[in-house]
This record gives sequence, structure tokens and C-alpha cells, in this order.
Amino acid sequence: MTIGLIGAGHIGSQLARLAIRSGHAVVISNSRGPETLANLVTELGPTARAATPAEAAAAGDIVVVTIPLKNYRDVPVAPLAGKIVIDTSNYYPQRDGDIPELDNESTTTAELLQAHLPTSKVVKAFNHIMASQLTTDGTPAGTPNRRALVIAGDDAAAKAAVTALLDEFGFDTVDAGPLAEGWRIQHDTPGYGPRRNAVELRADLAAAKRYRDM
Ligand SMILES: NC(=O)c1ccc[n+]([C@@H]2O[C@H](COP(=O)([O-])OP(=O)(O)OC[C@H]3O[C@@H](n4cnc5c(N)ncnc54)[C@H](OP(=O)(O)O)[C@@H]3O)[C@@H](O)[C@H]2O)c1
Repeated sequence: MTIGLIGAGHIGSQLARLAIRSGHAVVISNSRGPETLANLVTELGPTARAATPAEAAAAGDIVVVTIPLKNYRDVPVAPLAGKIVIDTSNYYPQRDGDIPELDNESTTTAELLQAHLPTSKVVKAFNHIMASQLTTDGTPAGTPNRRALVIAGDDAAAKAAVTALLDEFGFDTVDAGPLAEGWRIQHDTPGYGPRRNAVELRADLAAAKRYRDM
């Protein structure tokens, strides 16, 4: 596959490394232009290239959006039509400014991106693991106590494809349900951050509380 990346910072660069390690091609992009990604492309090797966000969106079989949430409206819509889009975002008001529909908990971060990309299949993933751990914590399938990561999404086939990708990257998957359940893995919930296996992570999701109930 070709993995398109919109965002090449802490998470984007690490997911590019994992994708290359798993034998995929990557097309990476950021806000400042492909020329600013020359060092990363050199590190990643011949199956990586840098491009604009629209080109990365068009090239990817699966496309990862991994930018500060406040910029989600910049994500190109047309080239992502019909595609699986992985959303890694979290909401930090001090970074992203106040987003009223998140403050009042009437929606979730990945639902915002899904509303912006109405015909794409958005899957929430990789939002609760520190970037550095993406390349250190993966282990082969079947390893006892393997680390698990949460996904959420409204399209079963898209979730199956992302589950397969997570497995390649070294992680078990715990499905939190539809995108609307993604709040169960937002910051300040039990599963947000610590290393968890699948059994532990399911318990964390069940124990999660809305901010209004904390
Ligand atoms: N850091 C973590 O450990 C971690 C863990 C889980 C989830 N997350 C979440 O994942 C997302 C990305 O986090 P990060 O730590 O990787 O951020 P980061 O290191 O600040 O990198 C952000 C990337 O997004 C690019 N970008 C910003 N605005 C853009 C736009 N309008 N169009 C295209 N690219 C744009 C930036 O490009 P330029 O540099 O060219 O502006 C940069 O490559 C955030 O929502 C964060 O909360 C982070």
C-alpha cells in the first residue's frame, strides 16, 4: 500500500517509519512544503517522498491526518473522497483554541473530521500513545501482554483495514465502537497514555467518564 500522511511531526514521522518498516510506500506532507521534509525523506529511503497535503491525500490508499486539531478544516476534501482516513487528533484548548461543540461534549474530535470529510471513512487511531513509543512498543502478533491501541469508526470495513495495519505495526486493537464513542479515549480517561494490553484497555474504556461527570 501507499500510506499518505498529512502532518509529519512527532506522530506523522513515526507512522511513516512504521509504514516503511512494514513494507509500504509513504507520501508525507506538512504545512510548510515538501522541501522542508528532505531530511525525513532521506532517512525513510527510496519508497518515501514528500508532497503537498493534496498530493499525499490523492496518493494514499490509506491517509493519516495527524496535525493540530485547530487546522482540521485545511485537510483537502476532494482527494480523500471514499478513502479510509485515520485521525490521530486530540483536543487541547490551550493549543487549539476553544471549540464549543467539544467543550459542551456534543461531538468528538474524529466526528469533526468526519463532518469535514463527509464521504471519507474516518477511523480514530493512534491518539493515546506517545509518539516515541510507536517505534519501541510494537511486538509481533501473539506476543504475551502485547500493547493494544483503540480504534473507533462508523465503517466496519475501514476499521478492519486499520486493525490489519495496527497489527503490522505491532499492536493489538480494541474497538471502542462508532466515532461517537471516541471520547472514551480522550485525555484524562484511564486508557489515555499508559501502556495497556487489550484486556486492560477494554476495562479502561468501560470505566471512562465524560468531562461533565468528572
Ligand atoms: N505527540 C504525541 O505524542 C501525540 C500522541 C497522540 C496523538 N497526538 C495528536 O496527533 C496530532 C499531531 O500531533 P504531533 O505531536 O505529531 O504534532 P506536531 O509534532 O506539532 O506536528 C504537526 C504536523 O502537522 C503539520 N501541519 C500543521 N498544520 C497543517 C496543515 N494545515 N496542513 C498540513 N500539515 C499541517 C505540521 O507541519 P509544519 O511543521 O510544516 O507546520 C507538522 O508536520 C495532534 O492532534 C496531537 O494531539 C500527538
